[in-house]
Amino acid sequence: MPVITFANTKGGAGKTTAALILATELARSGARVTILDADPQHWISHWHDISGKVPNIEVISYVTMASIQTHINDNRAKTDYFIIDLAGARNTLMATAIGLSDHVMIPIQGCAMDAKGGAQVLELLGYLEEKAGIRINHSVVLTRVNSLVTTRALQVVKQLLSERAVPVLDTPIIERAAFRDIFDCGGTLQTMDPARVSNLDKACQNARAFGDEVRQLVPLRLTRSMRRAA
Ligand SMILES: Nc1ncnc2c1ncn2[C@@H]1O[C@H](COP(=O)(O)OP(=O)(O)OP(=O)(O)O)[C@@H](O)[C@H]1O
Ligand SMILES: [Mg+2]
Repeated sequence: MPVITFANTKGGAGKTTAALILATELARSGARVTILDADPQHWISHWHDISGKVPNIEVISYVTMASIQTHINDNRAKTDYFIIDLAGARNTLMATAIGLSDHVMIPIQGCAMDAKGGAQVLELLGYLEEKAGIRINHSVVLTRVNSLVTTRALQVVKQLLSERAVPVLDTPIIERAAFRDIFDCGGTLQTMDPARVSNLDKACQNARAFGDEVRQLVPLRLTRSMRRAA
């Protein structure tokens, strides 16, 4: 059960949105997903409350430093992917969650403030490797990217990441109404009404590409069929 944590100490970088898109996409493809909602604004818990039962998705709404390890252990046998949505803050819960992760996703919008928040996460990852010998795989995911133009700010951020050899996902998350509206409507991109949400098909394609890339990067170590056969 890979643990994937979304972290950026800057608020509003797109963590919660990216975490929900990934979770719903992995669930759509048949994986059992548990989301640990450690964002004090509880957007994902609210989404879950208004959605009713979403196949393959469970949400844990309350977490503390002391309970996070237990939540992970309790779900190992019944979950394929465990996704953690962190607060936009630098705190001990962030450090604990990162320390327990198989992969850390760092959402960054094309702006310097987001990049700074992302750099704080990268610093912590570097510190864990240097001081404790713990290497945690990680990737930046560019978020709220304009589908039509590459802004100068985004170019600068991309240049900076490439100079520092920070891994960046090939799939950016595009700015789409569907990725905003899903929190109001509940359900998944597939249950939204294409007549009411512009470019829903493009949002679905984007989510699929994001999910495919993450699945390749963070494969299930032991698939359910392998576990049954074992
Ligand atoms: N790809 C996207 N398309 C459209 N809107 C987006 C996208 N990503 C994020 N947003 C919007 O940007 C705002 C911030 O996004 P989000 O809540 O996901 O960030 P966050 O990093 O989780 O913030 P916080 O640190 O406060 O928890 C929200 O209003 C969200 O709807
Ligand atoms: Mg959030």
